[in-house]
Amino acid sequence: MSSKSNISANTPHILILGMGGTIAGLAPNPEDSPLQYEAGLVGVDALVAQIQSVVPVGVNLVSRQLANINSRNLTEAHLTNLGLAVKEALLDAAVKGIVITHGTDTIEETGLFLQATCGKLAHTQSKRVILTGAMLPSNVPGADGPSNLLDALRWASTPIDNCPGGVYAVMDGRGCMAMDLAKRHATALNAPLQNAPSSSVGLINPSWLSGVKAVQATWNEDLPIPQEGEWPWVEILTSHAGARPETVAHWLSSAVQGFVLAGSGHGGFHDGWIEPLDRAMLQGIALARTTRTGAGATLRNIPELDKLGCCASGSLTAPRARIALQLALNAAKQANKAGKPLTWQDFFARMADLPEIK
Ligand code: SIN
Repeated sequence: MSSKSNISANTPHILILGMGGTIAGLAPNPEDSPLQYEAGLVGVDALVAQIQSVVPVGVNLVSRQLANINSRNLTEAHLTNLGLAVKEALLDAAVKGIVITHGTDTIEETGLFLQATCGKLAHTQSKRVILTGAMLPSNVPGADGPSNLLDALRWASTPIDNCPGGVYAVMDGRGCMAMDLAKRHATALNAPLQNAPSSSVGLINPSWLSGVKAVQATWNEDLPIPQEGEWPWVEILTSHAGARPETVAHWLSSAVQGFVLAGSGHGGFHDGWIEPLDRAMLQGIALARTTRTGAGATLRNIPELDKLGCCASGSLTAPRARIALQLALNAAKQANKAGKPLTWQDFFARMADLPEIK
C-alpha cells in the first residue's frame, strides 16, 4: 500500500507504518457499547490527521498503510512485510524514526520479531522504532489511541535522556523495549505493558535505561527475516491437568518443525508427553520449553535435566518463544547454506539469554 505525504522524499521525517488494530477500530454504538467494535477500519493517514495539530513544530510525518487488520489475524507474511519495511526505513537517511500502529492482541509477537531482526540495525542507525496501539476504538469517548500515537511520535522524534536507538513500545504514558511486551489483561489501558519493565514516556528512569543498554550491548547481530512462505511451522502446546499423549502424537505425521511447550511452573510438562516428545525429537522436531505462568524465567535443566537438544526459553513467553524458534530455525538453515555449522539452538539461545531488564 502507498505512502501518504505532501513533503519531498528527502525531507527529514518520521515514518508511521499502519498495521490496523483497535487504534484503527470503529464502534457502531460508541456511547452505549464502546467495546463492541471492529478493528482495522480507519486508515493510518486519518489517525495521523487527528493529532497533526499537536505534533511538535518541525516534525514532518509520512504515513504508510502496510495492513489494516485485527492483529489476531496477523500472518507470517505480514511480519515479513513489516520487517522489510522497517529495515528499508532504518537505512533511509530521510527517515529519523519509525512509529508502528498495531493491534495489541499479537503486538507481543511483533515486538520480539522486530527486536530479533532489526534491533541491531536500529541501534547502529541511532533510530527508534516505536510500536503503539490502543485498547479503545478510535471513535469512543476517551479513546486512548491519539495520546498513545502522540507519545510514540514524541519518543521517535526527540532525544529523550540519551535513550539509544532500538525497538520500543509506548502505551498509556509508559515505554518499554518491544521484546518485553505481553498482553496480560483483557481490557486495561496498559494491557501489553502490564508485566513489562517500563519507564514513563516523559521521564526515563536510569535503572530501566541501563537495562536497555545492557540488552543493546548483548544483541550484536540481527537474524534474517524469513521470506514469505519460508517461515518454519512451529506450534505452541500447553501442558495441563489431564494432558494426553495424543496431543503430541497427533502432530508426528505432520510437517511441523518445532514445538514450544508452555509448561506448568518452571516449564515442566505432563509425564504423559514424555514418550511422544522423545519420538518428536528423534524425528528432528525442535523443542523449546517455557512457562504458562505468565511471568518469570524458564531455566536450563530446571526442574529436571533437559533432554539433549531441548532449549529453555529464559524470559520468553510462549508466543515470543514461538517467533524466536521460527527465526532460529530459519537462521540455522541460512547459515548452513552458507557453510556455517550453526544450529537453531545457537540462534535461539541468543534471544533466550538476553539480559532481563528489572
Ligand atoms: C487487535 O489486536 O487488532 C485488536 C485488539 C487491540 O488492538 O487491542
